[in-house]
Amino acid sequence: MLQTSFVYYVVPLFLAYLLWNVLSKPKDAFPSIGPSGPISSFIGAFQFLTQGRRMVHEGYTKYAGRVFRVPGFTHWTHVVSGLERTREVVSAPDTELSLDDAANETFQLDYTMGTDMAIHPYGTRVIRGALTQNLARRFEDVRDEISCAFEDVLTLEGTEWQSVTAYTAVLNIVCRTSNRLFVGLPLCRSPEWIALNIQFTIDVAIAGQLIGILPTILKPVFGPFLTSRKRNLRQGEKLIGPLIQERLDDPSSSHNDLISWLLDAAPVDGRRVTPILERVLGINFAAIHTSSMVLTHALFDLAVHPECAAPLREEAARVVAADGWTKAALGKMHKIDSFLRESLRMNGLGITTVGRRVTNRAGFRFADGTTIPHGEFLEIAVMDTHHDPTVYDAPDTFDGFRFSRLRDGQPDQQERGGVFKHGMVTTSLDYLPFGHGRHACPGRFFAATELKAMIAHVVLNYDVKLDSADGKRPPDAAIGAAHLPNRTAKLWFRRRSEAE
Ligand code: HEM
Ligand SMILES: *[C@@H]1O[C@H](CO)[C@@H](O)[C@H](O)[C@H]1NC(C)=O
Ligand SMILES: *[C@@H]1O[C@H](CO)[C@@H](O)[C@H](O)[C@H]1NC(C)=O
Repeated sequence: MLQTSFVYYVVPLFLAYLLWNVLSKPKDAFPSIGPSGPISSFIGAFQFLTQGRRMVHEGYTKYAGRVFRVPGFTHWTHVVSGLERTREVVSAPDTELSLDDAANETFQLDYTMGTDMAIHPYGTRVIRGALTQNLARRFEDVRDEISCAFEDVLTLEGTEWQSVTAYTAVLNIVCRTSNRLFVGLPLCRSPEWIALNIQFTIDVAIAGQLIGILPTILKPVFGPFLTSRKRNLRQGEKLIGPLIQERLDDPSSSHNDLISWLLDAAPVDGRRVTPILERVLGINFAAIHTSSMVLTHALFDLAVHPECAAPLREEAARVVAADGWTKAALGKMHKIDSFLRESLRMNGLGITTVGRRVTNRAGFRFADGTTIPHGEFLEIAVMDTHHDPTVYDAPDTFDGFRFSRLRDGQPDQQERGGVFKHGMVTTSLDYLPFGHGRHACPGRFFAATELKAMIAHVVLNYDVKLDSADGKRPPDAAIGAAHLPNRTAKLWFRRRSEAE
């Protein structure tokens, strides 16, 4: 009974509401992709779910260097293409275009993450500052956790091949390793802590979508039931509460981890268990799934390109023999750096990225006078930029050493502060996996350190091969503008007999 009435009344009402939502959006001058009639654009939104890449590509080709719109259930997204327009977007101040407002719409932050983080946004400052500055000092711990985590997760016996679901294994390894730096031993190895942080991200993403399509007046009514925020916070408090409390009770104790850096940066009224926990969860949210997807892509690339393994291994062995395992040594691993940079260019994590919402009441005006109205959403066509033959030679070919070749023969002095023009963390208008400009990912220095150390560890200690006999990369998953590595495909690992 209940189910029948749900299907007959609630679903049509809901669809009608969504339709009204699309219809009532102000028209603007930008061309749209897919059906653009009032009702058919709703069908376009369904199409975009499965054909996002094709639709964005159509716009990128038809309206090169301009702005076009792609349909969604609750709003159109303006897609920006071309380096000139990209420059204008990434350099716009928050009073023109806001990342926070776009994130709020995607994740419905008030319900999923809480308002405190928006009121005291010091987390990003801590990542850019203390966390990045302490990477060299804390590298030994990160390195130790990488060894232990691969050992525990792969469960290899002797030199037998063993298969694992790549994404699941990587997620565990990345979560553990990142949390060694964030919260230290033993919590970083706690299965409950790992599960909480992995689940938290998924909960926020799903609840954000669900709450996002609710009519505004219903959000406060149903919002709290659609998130697991309360349960997650309770679980988190149980796990990390005593640790934070200990630090609060004894301010003279010295530590060097994310908790201590957050406590140093927090406003006086924020030096409590819950606000600190919220930030640790929030930083895990930004760090774990992103880095895991990147590493999964890179391992698939390694398995599909066995010809890259030997040069990568030779480089890692040579550098580690000379310098040991340090962060500075990673700086000399140009091929590993290039391999990851190329994997990020080829695969990325999205078809579009750098989400923004127009905050300027008068709209966001490009230099040529075209204007995206106030409240509208925009993104940059990153996938097409990275695969544009006028930007990259043979853009659809994976070339692991594309970027390290540019470094060969260049004296190291030319590399400013160890940051090379073609290094993994260097962003530009045509290299956007981490965004670029004002809001470029502050966690990328940590992500690069962790991921490079992981690839070096893998090539030195293991052989990796695909599960399939055809030598093809497992197909990626594309949902709307998201572009994810295959999360069910397996990889085979074998311990190298001559491993150190
Ligand atoms: C390889 C892994 C990662 C990728 C591909 C990635 C990518 C990105 C991208 C595309 C943005 C948005 C930039 C923009 O809109 O302009 C971003 C922002 C951000 N990322 Fe990352 N990220 C990664 C790892 C991390 C890690 C490890 C952390 C934390 C330790 C982190 C923390 C953040 C934060 C806090 C922001 C928001 C910055 C702001 O509000 O200005 N990310 N990231
Ligand atoms: C998110 O958006 C809602 C609705 O517009 C607003 O009331 C709230 O203050 C915003 N929250 C944050 C954290 O920006
Ligand atoms: C992931 O890869 C497996 C093969 O390993 C395949 O059966 C499955 O369909 C792929 N998933 C997606 C979403 O393409």
